[in-house]
Amino acid sequence: MTENTQVLFKSRPTGWVDASHFEVVKTPMADPGPGEVLVRNIFMSLDPYMRGRMRDQKSYTPGFELGKVLQAGAVGEVIASNDPALTTGDLVEGRLGWETYTVAKAELVNKVDGKAASLSHYLGVLGMPSMTAWIGLRNIGQPQAGETVYVSAASGAVGQVAGQIAKMHGCHVAGSAGSDDKVAYIKDVLGYDAAFNYKTAASLDQALAASCPEGIDVYFENVGGAMLDAVLLRVNPHARIVACGMISQYNLAQPEGVKNLSTIVGNKVRMQGFIVSDHMDQKPAFMAEMSGWLAEGKIKYREDITEGIENAPAAFIGMLKGENFGKQIVKIADP
Ligand SMILES: NC(=O)c1ccc[n+]([C@@H]2O[C@H](COP(=O)([O-])OP(=O)(O)OC[C@H]3O[C@@H](n4cnc5c(N)ncnc54)[C@H](OP(=O)(O)O)[C@@H]3O)[C@@H](O)[C@H]2O)c1
Repeated sequence: MTENTQVLFKSRPTGWVDASHFEVVKTPMADPGPGEVLVRNIFMSLDPYMRGRMRDQKSYTPGFELGKVLQAGAVGEVIASNDPALTTGDLVEGRLGWETYTVAKAELVNKVDGKAASLSHYLGVLGMPSMTAWIGLRNIGQPQAGETVYVSAASGAVGQVAGQIAKMHGCHVAGSAGSDDKVAYIKDVLGYDAAFNYKTAASLDQALAASCPEGIDVYFENVGGAMLDAVLLRVNPHARIVACGMISQYNLAQPEGVKNLSTIVGNKVRMQGFIVSDHMDQKPAFMAEMSGWLAEGKIKYREDITEGIENAPAAFIGMLKGENFGKQIVKIADP
């Protein structure tokens, strides 16, 4: 009997997530029912939105169930199929589990081409985070040549793509991140015009003034809290704030207040949230454009790969604290 190593959602965090909220168990591998496939998971994505799914409150995505296997975007290989659309050996991506094997409805997974790209790319640069950057800039940010675009969490899964797309639009692009190595990567590899370490900057206001001397026309917001407050003091008339995420708030029992919101009135600023999964009709256009940019070397992308499903909880906690350098992925098995 083949064993399945699974990570269960053991208890609900109220502040910071820690190892006690997870449990790693070994169970027998399940058999697929009619219309289902058994997937050998290979790479799994860890994403900040998962922290939201640990809350017991209404959200755009259903919460994780206590005692059940946590879910994640993953890619894997079909090793048994009870559906004519998929056969053994097919490579698929979809909402699978924090586990070595997942039984999934065949209609809920999509075939991917293992020859066209590295399988882990379907979780990052050719997957949800990169599409988030693409959609956010296209639909809300709409950067124009000569404008200033500022990206927070700029070395992360979403941020690294957002800044590079803004550069392609002919913008002055600035970013921030939480270590000097990340700042060097943003500038030297991704080609941002300016970058700063928000943890060591004398003040966020001064760092933004130095990085964005002409003010901010588009803020790609990944962080919230004090960073948003500082940006609000530097926005230009008709600035757009792409409210993608506010990770600084996700582990706080009480969210921080934002004091400088009144600047959006006189500056006629537009701040708009969005959720990438509402825009899946645009996925083919995203895949075509991003694959082209990758092939032409116009987009660089860094992944941070943790080995072993049993190390997923530590990697998830580390990502929320900024220990990841690039898109956080867990390698569960060899391709
Ligand atoms: N709207 C959507 O559909 C959608 C989809 C995907 C992601 N998102 C959002 O996009 C944002 C980025 O997600 P991602 O997947 O690209 O994650 P990521 O940037 O790869 O990883 C999270 C990063 O957030 C930074 N961070 C953590 N705490 C912070 C704090 N208190 N202040 C400033 N930065 C902090 C850390 O980098 P540093 O070392 O730089 O601190 C950490 O590495 C998140 O807010 C996420 O919720 C939204």
